[in-house]
Amino acid sequence: MAADAGTFGAGGRRIILNAFTMNCVSHIQQGLWVRDDTRQREYTSLEPWLELARICEAGCFDAVFLADVIGLYDTYRGNADTSLREGMQVPVNDPMLLIPAMATVTEHLGFAFTSNVLQAHPFTFSRQITTLDHLTGGRVAWNVVTSYLQNGAQSLGYEALPKHDTRYERAEDYLDVCYKLWEGSWSDHAVLADTERGVYADPAGVRPIDHEGPYYSVAGPHLAEPSPQRTPVIYQAGSSDRGRDFAAKHAECVFVVAASRGLTRIAEDIRRRVRAVGRHPDDVKIIAGLSPIVGGTEAEAKAKHADYLETLSLEAGLAHLSGNLNVDLSHIDPDQPLETLRTEGVRGPVKSLLDSARPGSRTFGDLIKLNMAGQFLVGSPEQIADGMERRLDQGVDGFNLVYATTPGTFVDFIDGVVPVLRERGLVQREYQPGTLREKLFGRRRLGETHYASGFRQQRV
Ligand SMILES: Cc1cc2nc3c(=O)[nH]c(=O)nc-3n(C[C@H](O)[C@H](O)[C@H](O)COP(=O)(O)O)c2cc1C
Repeated sequence: MAADAGTFGAGGRRIILNAFTMNCVSHIQQGLWVRDDTRQREYTSLEPWLELARICEAGCFDAVFLADVIGLYDTYRGNADTSLREGMQVPVNDPMLLIPAMATVTEHLGFAFTSNVLQAHPFTFSRQITTLDHLTGGRVAWNVVTSYLQNGAQSLGYEALPKHDTRYERAEDYLDVCYKLWEGSWSDHAVLADTERGVYADPAGVRPIDHEGPYYSVAGPHLAEPSPQRTPVIYQAGSSDRGRDFAAKHAECVFVVAASRGLTRIAEDIRRRVRAVGRHPDDVKIIAGLSPIVGGTEAEAKAKHADYLETLSLEAGLAHLSGNLNVDLSHIDPDQPLETLRTEGVRGPVKSLLDSARPGSRTFGDLIKLNMAGQFLVGSPEQIADGMERRLDQGVDGFNLVYATTPGTFVDFIDGVVPVLRERGLVQREYQPGTLREKLFGRRRLGETHYASGFRQQRV
């Protein structure tokens, strides 16, 4: 059954589609940057980013999702040589600065970007977000991450990377500051822009926040006036136990990477935690990472996949994962049981792999496969659409599409798979009006059951 914009397939489901990328040479599928059919090497110039934005909007994607890390991956073999040689997430430019440019050539496309809570002070960061939200007409999302790179922490003035759960405590305080500035500091009626009386803002509607938390002390008020969404759409990507609780309280979209068998469990668990804090399970969308390799036929897709595998760099993949885990994998036996891993780095994907199989059966080799080629879905457009539908049945709401080549992967997907998904009524044919949050949730501002709504000024 074909569907118009707004009426969707079984259960009213509409798949959220994001192009997942990073302002660097080599993002997830390591080694492929050397190919002639990818533009990622041109990341320092504006043109490929503008092209990507136009392509994504033509395909009615929800957003371009920009990952980012602060710091070198220098755990593998005890140094950053592999990362530097392979362009593995270094050199890396700032993601935020791409957004106004990409917004200029699009009207509806959203922009999710990543910023960790160690890298910038929440007072100045929240003003940057507000500025972006103004300039884009409310199309911004922030992926809140807590960081995992020792080198990054040391470059930011920390003696060492704070412990895993301590980073989440800091993130709680960081978000309190941001919410108070975005939601509470300026009332809805503070901006008068009264040219007759020459009064721009009513001082009675602007108040300090006087925040005194364990990590930050911020007087306020917010220096920027309220933007269309006030708080940007909140993404979150940690899925350890602590990360899932954090997601349940704060996130509107949770980005997960899990073996497909583990998706049901992780989606159910996050929704259970969302309910436990008094929010509706539909208030949070689960976005899975997926690397689609599309061919006109299955055979064509398999040939393309085989060709990519030839160019993939296992060495850079191991450097990436070693940095994620803070564990040097250069001497790890791939058959070693994964239960033996102890990490202060990223725990979510490890947890989801362990949860998806019987105890003792998952190995380091499985984790290495998941990190790179494990997210590949290879096939004809119909087969890719089938695979996406299966994941929908597992509780997923959308996908961050990981590229092998850019913009090639996105073009193949839009030309091949999007028409099939449209035919099945599973993706939008045109954009809904409004801000990114209105497009995703049908509301401009954060919902009343979200924790941050408690910081709003009450009308007197
Ligand atoms: C799918 C996924 C994507 C992530 N992307 C980033 C990123 O771009 N930048 C970053 O600093 N951390 C990123 N992270 C790390 C986490 O979001 C997180 O803040 C943290 O390191 C702890 O995660 P945990 O709760 O899974 O242990 C990502 C994690 C996952 C699972």
